[in-house]
Amino acid sequence: MTNFEFKNPTKIIFGKDTIKKITEEIPSDAKVLMLYGGGSIKKNGVYDQVKAALANANVVEFGGIPANPEYAVLMDALKVIKEENITYLLAVGGGSVIDGTKFLSAAAVYEGDEPWDFVQKREPIKKGMAFGTVLTLPATGSEMNSGTVISRKETQEKLAFGGPALFPQFSVLDPQVITSIPERQLVNGITDAFTHVLEQYMTYPAGGLLQDRFAEGILQTLIEIAPRVIKDPSDYEAAANFMWSCTMALNGLIQQGVPGDWAVHMMGHELTAMYGIDHARTLAVVAPSHYKYNFETKKEKLAQYGERVWNITEGSVDDKAYAAIERTEAFFKELGIDTKLSDYTSDYEGTAEKIAQRFTDRGWKGLGERQALTPQDAEKIVKMAY
Ligand code: NZQ
Repeated sequence: MTNFEFKNPTKIIFGKDTIKKITEEIPSDAKVLMLYGGGSIKKNGVYDQVKAALANANVVEFGGIPANPEYAVLMDALKVIKEENITYLLAVGGGSVIDGTKFLSAAAVYEGDEPWDFVQKREPIKKGMAFGTVLTLPATGSEMNSGTVISRKETQEKLAFGGPALFPQFSVLDPQVITSIPERQLVNGITDAFTHVLEQYMTYPAGGLLQDRFAEGILQTLIEIAPRVIKDPSDYEAAANFMWSCTMALNGLIQQGVPGDWAVHMMGHELTAMYGIDHARTLAVVAPSHYKYNFETKKEKLAQYGERVWNITEGSVDDKAYAAIERTEAFFKELGIDTKLSDYTSDYEGTAEKIAQRFTDRGWKGLGERQALTPQDAEKIVKMAY
């Protein structure tokens, strides 16, 4: 295990009927910008609960943040922050609204002219406007981490960045909110969280025995609750375990002291930027090919995962590792998630070359846990995923 320093300052307020508690978390003299997405919160009662909690607060609203939060829309929200002298941001939504709010937190105090500059530079963000979140969709873990991913249609880019200033001050996790989530987004959430764990686990044995078991525990929990959540999102026990698993999958805990891969996300982000494919589905497209391509360097962890998570006990390390990849792909398919790029677009020729070129242009010469995955490797992996 390597040395680490770990601080996660986000306060989690978890459980039934907890949205009303935001009143206690937001400073009483704050001028709040409440940010939300396309309007689902107005249909499922979340909007009313937030408004009731903020009845005595000074609140301005900004709705319409789209999935894969779009830079141009966020720049409109930034204008509101400046014109209205906003001092506190409240995200009410899924990963897209929360990520958009994180961008705005940084942009609100940014001294340069063009916030896209800090997105592109990917330097750690050390200053930001305070914000909290009310999570409506378990998936990304954004509610308890300091990362964000912003899209820009104009340039077909989707870039991740973050920094210590971008942890939410608090996040309200009321599992009851999942009752209104369409099945497509529920299975996206399960797949996203599952892949987050894999990115931090499917590397090489690094002596993080506890981190491995935390990771395996989250994977097993997601596998166990997936059919229950899909069958009946009002099953509170399943919803609560789903929500907490997604948060724990990417709040930093399982990443401490062990290597991380994240190449699947980097390739996946490009597929969303080019084709608008849901984030989680891009991960299910890339991951199986990525693990097959990097089989030799990942097979020990693949076999351990196969044994401990899927109960694959027969055969050699290679046999178990290969079966684990197959089982993972089958799991995504059982959820109703297609695992080939050609399932989503017929216009895929040239995608792999384009991604390799983008990685080269950005200087991403070595991705993965050993920083050894070149743009040419990425090209081959994406081709395998056609
Ligand atoms: O826009 P609204 O009306 O809110 O509807 C949303 C949206 O259409 C809907 N939804 C959310 N909660 C709902 C609901 N519908 C009914 N009932 C509810 N309770 O679901 C749709 C998708 O929402 P979105 O926020 O886009 O989904 P998700 O949470 O999966 O976020 C995806 C974004 O997060 C980024 C992704 O790249 C993508 O841009 N990620 C952020 C990460 C992070 N910050 O750590 C890591 C992730 O891997 C990921 O990259």
